Parts: sequence; structure tokens; C-alpha cells
Amino acid sequence: MKNNKIIAVWGNPNSGKTTLSIKMANELAKNNKSVILVLADSYVPVISTVLPFTETKEQSLGALLSSVQISQENILEKCIPVMKTKNLSVLSYLHSENIRTYADYGKERVLDLFILLKHLADHIIVDCSSMVHHDLLSRGALEMSDQIIRLVTPDLKAISFYDSSLMLLGERKYNVENHIKVLSNVKPVMPKDSISNHFGGIRHELEYCEELQQQALEARLFESLTDKSSSGYNQQFSSLMNEIFSEEVVAEKEEKKARKPFFKRREDV
Ligand SMILES: Nc1ncnc2c1ncn2[C@@H]1O[C@H](COP(=O)(O)OP(=O)(O)O)[C@@H](O)[C@H]1O
Ligand SMILES: [Mg+2]
Repeated sequence: MKNNKIIAVWGNPNSGKTTLSIKMANELAKNNKSVILVLADSYVPVISTVLPFTETKEQSLGALLSSVQISQENILEKCIPVMKTKNLSVLSYLHSENIRTYADYGKERVLDLFILLKHLADHIIVDCSSMVHHDLLSRGALEMSDQIIRLVTPDLKAISFYDSSLMLLGERKYNVENHIKVLSNVKPVMPKDSISNHFGGIRHELEYCEELQQQALEARLFESLTDKSSSGYNQQFSSLMNEIFSEEVVAEKEEKKARKPFFKRREDV
């Protein structure tokens, strides 16, 4: 698969990591890309909060990580398809599981998982845990990703979190200099300019969106945002997606051009 990417979404607690990961996975699937969304949080198993009525048939990410050997077949067995969304499936810890449910796994297992995943879908989105130093899977995602989105809420908690956590990611492999920093869940009353100045290099923002909040409460995040009042969020989201996937759009255009001499299609004219 050409141009396929692993994108990790990381950030301070409650910054919107799960929400953005779902929106990104959905958008790619809508554009006919195959996507596997890895929901890494083992403290609040995500599937029960975002797809509570989905039948899971013992398809746990925890079981996968603790299996004797990891293979494309057992990854696919654990992938839970998202109803009504072609091309999109999720890997998640299941309801009521915890870190003791399965045997411990090592770093090699995590690296194997990401290497294999890259062959199984056009794109892999990883919804990381904030506490990467306690979570081998999320730490592995930061190491193995092609791009990392770092969400920052415009408040003092974000400053406190990053001033403590970033120094734990000092090694070069975590590539902190190149994270794409995004101000997230921005409300008008928040001191976004001072927080942006504190961190520096923030070029993207995702504003607070009421429809999105409602979707989260009703476990409907896999649906599109159609309300007029969501247009600001939708625009900011598109600009972020364009930055991450722009090469792909260029490559697809080039490919179309290269095919042109053989036959003329309507969209090429
Ligand atoms: N842009 C946004 N507009 C409105 N609500 C948001 C936005 N981003 C996140 N939220 C809300 O903030 C809360 C935390 O989001 P979540 O994605 O669960 O964060 P995390 O995964 O980082 O803990 C959820 O209630 C979610 O709906
Ligand atoms: Mg989350």
C-alpha cells in the first residue's frame, strides 16, 4: 500500500484525543480509504463509550497484545467493524477489562503490531493514552508513527501536563520537535493566545463545537457534523487533514495524470 500512514493522536487528559481520532478515521473511510482505529486506552476501554451497542465477540486489543505470536490473521480477528461505515474497524480493550486482564507484553510485541498493521490498511489512527510513560502501546505508537498530532487545551492543566510529561519523551525517537500541535476544544473565554505563546509553533485550532459535544454524549461520534453551527469546526478540521494527507492528494493527482493518455475520464477533463 503506497503512502499509507500511522497517525498517533496524543495530548493532555481530556483534550479530545478520542474525539479527533474518530473524526479522522471516519473522514478517511468516507474517502474510500481502509482504516484501522487503535483505541489504546486500557483504563477507560473506549469501545463501550463510543460504540456501546456493538457486539464484540471477545475481540480485545488486550488479548491480541498478549497472544503468543502476533500475525495478520489474529489482528484481523480482533478488528471490530464499525456498523454502517465501510472500510473502518477498531481495535479496543473491551468493557470491564483492566491492565490485569491479560498477561504482560513486551515492546517487541508492540512494534510487531504496528509493522503488521501498516500492511493491513491504508491508514492507521492511534488514539493514545495521555500517560505514555505507563503505556507501552501508546509509547510504541509515538515511536512508530509517521505523524503525531499533539492536542493542547488552552488552560493551565495543559501547561502543567506538558511541563511534566514532555521531559519523559526526550529521546529522539519520539520526535517531539515535529509533532503537529493543535489547540483543542477552544472556547471563547479561554486564554488561547497566552497558551499558544507559551508552547509556540501552534498552527491549528479546533474550536468547541456543540454538536460534537452532543454526539459524544449520545455515542454518535461516528456520524458526520451537519449542523450549520459546526461549520467553523469542520473547516479547521479539514485544514488539519489537508496538512497531514496533502502528499497523498498530490500523489493521487499525479497518478491520474499519468493514466490520462490511455483513457479520458470525466473528472480528468
Ligand atoms: N471540539 C470539541 N467541541 C466540543 N466538545 C469537545 C471537542 N473536543 C472534545 N470535546 C469533548 O471533550 C470531552 C473529552 O474528549 P475526549 O475525546 O474523550 O478526550 P480524551 O480522549 O483526550 O480524554 C468529551 O466530552 C468530548 O466530547
Ligand atoms: Mg480518550
